[in-house]
Amino acid sequence: MLILSSRKSLISFVPVLSSRFCSAQASLAEQKLLSAKPFEVIPGPRNSFQFLKLMAHPKSKYYNQPLIKMICMIREDFGDLVYFPGLLGAKPMVMTFSPEDAEKVSRYEGRYPYRRDLETFKYYRKQHRPELFKPSAGLVVEHGLAWHEFRSKVNQVMLHPRNVKMYTPILDNVACEFVEKIRAIRNESMTMPDNFLENLNEWALESIALIALDTRLNLFEGANQESKQLYELIKEMFAIGFEFDIKPSIWRYCKTPGFNKALKTFDKLTQIVFGHVGQAVERYEKSPSASEHQSILEKLLKIDRNVAEVMATDMLIAGIDTTSSTAAAALYCLATNPDKQEILRKEVKKVLPSNYAQLTEKSLASVPYMRAVIKEALRMFPIFNGIARALDKDIVLQGYRIKKGVDIMMVPTAYSDFEHTNKFIPERWLKRKTQKTCQGKDVNPFAHLPFGYGPRMCIGKRMAEMEIEILLTRLLSEFKLEWQEGDIKWSSTTINVPSSPLRFKVLDL
Ligand code: HEM
Repeated sequence: MLILSSRKSLISFVPVLSSRFCSAQASLAEQKLLSAKPFEVIPGPRNSFQFLKLMAHPKSKYYNQPLIKMICMIREDFGDLVYFPGLLGAKPMVMTFSPEDAEKVSRYEGRYPYRRDLETFKYYRKQHRPELFKPSAGLVVEHGLAWHEFRSKVNQVMLHPRNVKMYTPILDNVACEFVEKIRAIRNESMTMPDNFLENLNEWALESIALIALDTRLNLFEGANQESKQLYELIKEMFAIGFEFDIKPSIWRYCKTPGFNKALKTFDKLTQIVFGHVGQAVERYEKSPSASEHQSILEKLLKIDRNVAEVMATDMLIAGIDTTSSTAAAALYCLATNPDKQEILRKEVKKVLPSNYAQLTEKSLASVPYMRAVIKEALRMFPIFNGIARALDKDIVLQGYRIKKGVDIMMVPTAYSDFEHTNKFIPERWLKRKTQKTCQGKDVNPFAHLPFGYGPRMCIGKRMAEMEIEILLTRLLSEFKLEWQEGDIKWSSTTINVPSSPLRFKVLDL
């Protein structure tokens, strides 16, 4: 038996013990790496030719399938860990369907998590227009220490609950105007037009521009030419991301006319956004706000102008289709589940007893069912098909050795693996469950990561959730939603967006 006679001996013993423990752990990890099956034998298409044949041959069962369905088929065919070769200069990737793998990756990623960037953005900001994006090219492009420094600066501003909540009343104004827009565009049978997603995109841009540019674009009515152009440019950005980053493309070897056109789109967008930030600088110089009333843009400008310009651009790019598609998913789930819609309406009536009242910073402090509705809608209709990371050391997943630097795509399994997986059951996410069969709260949180995880998770989560909560509050207090079409369909480009016409029936209460 080991007896420690004095404090001194205890102190001197601990480092020895911990260093032995660490080296024992290290050698265990090394052993695991050495005994793991090699990377080269992970199931999946082995080379680019096989991969292309599988995805692009008209006779392949994967051909032209929606991406989410294709991913489920891939899992059925190859298992929970699948290897994909890179095409045309793109890097290879492994896809995992195990939440335990995702958890393990999260423990290995360190202080500077690495997520594959959109290479077109990187090229534009780092090589084509470096003079505009110095000293930093922003969160979606930077890595390592440069990313960490930028993120630490903006976290203080963008993740502070008070800074976000202060937008409640003005985002509520946007939602109220959207209610009027809905009344104006619905047809005689109270149905939304086929392109209602465009209207939701306008709502999302109007809302995020309030935060990113501290300005109203008035997209519902009377927008000027520049605001309309901004809307079109952001739409084009998504198409560019899909064309040149997701689909196989030769731009890495040769700058095609299409790619040069894309660079011009980036230029125009940068010009408009930086122009808005410039106007805001003039406004703040003329009449600076007291610190407790400063907007997020004003606070970002206090850090420095580069941070404000780049962050404003990224908020606009990342904060439109994501938010509008999530709102569409939630509306669809509520319209197809009238009982759940009624439960949410009861909660909404508590925070907004009269349609003439205005939402305040405090109104949405306690809306558990609303939050559960949004979470469940994102489970059933994930906007992202996975969270990507690459590690700076080898790791063992499911008995295979994954080489450092390889992209690991962690697919949300909550989409397919839950009990009653095709049923919309917000109660899964409530603390006190009302239905025996519903897990959610009890499962591994890495099964459902709609906003990612860890230090690199979505920086706009609070904003997106608040915008959607305000929208749902207004819509449910004014309207009863119905859906008389077949199942909604989704398409995948850079993210998943609804592809069916959003013909909601919107009846006055
Ligand atoms: C419902 C809407 C949204 C969803 C589902 C969503 C989802 C995501 C996801 C999954 C990531 C990757 C996280 C990771 O790698 O761990 C991400 C990153 C990001 N999101 Fe969002 N997002 C949404 C709305 C927004 C909004 C409104 C903004 C605007 C502020 C925004 C800005 C960003 C930025 C800048 C990043 C990169 C963060 C970094 O690399 O440090 N997102 N988002």
